[in-house]
Amino acid sequence: MKIAPSVLTADFSNLEDELRSIETADYLHLDIMDGHFVPNLSFGPAITKTINQKTKLPLDVHLMVTNPIQWIEPFSKSNPVFITIHVEANDVEKTLHEIHKKNIKAGISLKPNTEIEAILPYLDQVGLVLVMTVEPGFGGQGFIENMLLKVEKLVQIRREKNLDFMIEVDGGINLETSKRCKQSGVDIAVAGSYIFNMEDRKKGIESLR
Ligand code: DX5
Ligand code: ZN
Repeated sequence: MKIAPSVLTADFSNLEDELRSIETADYLHLDIMDGHFVPNLSFGPAITKTINQKTKLPLDVHLMVTNPIQWIEPFSKSNPVFITIHVEANDVEKTLHEIHKKNIKAGISLKPNTEIEAILPYLDQVGLVLVMTVEPGFGGQGFIENMLLKVEKLVQIRREKNLDFMIEVDGGINLETSKRCKQSGVDIAVAGSYIFNMEDRKKGIESLR
């Protein structure tokens, strides 16, 4: 299972060292929040550009914003591997198309209370499905166990429809919950507080894999 540390929980006064401490990860997960789609405000394209200059890790941009379409252009400048939007946001179809036009892999994410049915129409247009395992907005929350049913359903649908999206989970991932995620068929696990609250981050990343 691949690991994508979320910098939301990193010490931004020491960002360069923080990024170095997780350089053995597979992706860098960037939580972009607009204070409207979620009750929190994080950082934007300018900081993302700086982060991109300070890391070799491929960027996994998670847009928790109401109007993602207006952010595709600015964030595309950082050449992320993924730009993920929420199915609960505006203009989903048009925005996925915008992401494709930039030759960036599109991701679709669903909040804990959103059923799998909501993302079915988009599964053949995305390279990533991000199953939120906490209510989006903050790091350090508890893992919502029955989100693994969505993961297992997605594994089944992917096989039945011969699709190739990767499955990512995000929120409350630690040594315990990562085991169950791996068993359910998760491809990429996002971890923020578990990794950044650790001294030895490389060990933390290895332990989650
Ligand atoms: C929550 C973010 C998650 C969060 C993960 O809205 O999307 O990426 O930062 O943090 P932990 O791993 O601390 O739950
Ligand atoms: Zn996230």
